[in-house]
Amino acid sequence: MMALTYRDLHMKPRKEILPDVCDLLDDDHKAVRKMFLEFRQMATANTAGSVNTRKDLAMRICAELTMHATVEEEILYPALRKEFRQTLLLAEAQVEHAGARDLIAQIRSANEVNEMFDAKVMVLGENVDHHVKQERIDIFPKARATSLDLVAMRKQVTQRKEELRAALATPA
Ligand SMILES: [Fe+2]
Repeated sequence: MMALTYRDLHMKPRKEILPDVCDLLDDDHKAVRKMFLEFRQMATANTAGSVNTRKDLAMRICAELTMHATVEEEILYPALRKEFRQTLLLAEAQVEHAGARDLIAQIRSANEVNEMFDAKVMVLGENVDHHVKQERIDIFPKARATSLDLVAMRKQVTQRKEELRAALATPA
């Protein structure tokens, strides 16, 4: 890949160059996908020693996904709802989030790391793959075609995620 020159940077509108909220959310997607792959490998090998690690990993996946879905629902989707003429796509994403939350609740309350536990985490991973595809193919490009300031929204989402992460770290 060629490096951007001073001229490139100054000829293009800032919006195209600075990482925006979609880039940030897609970084979440990549990070969580890596965690799911790691989980799948461990679950497939199913060594007795990996039970605790698998449980920890599943809990981290649940925490990351919950934060991701929360910022999308609180910040990105409501803003897009005002901009998109066709909002069915956003409704679909919301239904998918609800399905994910349901699986997350089941995973969190599981008493045992068994085949059903592993299966739930893997199905959650498949749901997330679908969500990612839809955002990359449809939602993000449409968001970038609006006049929304997605670079400013990135800051807002970053801040909200920090709040959520801090709340997670301090048990109520
Ligand atoms: Fe997402």
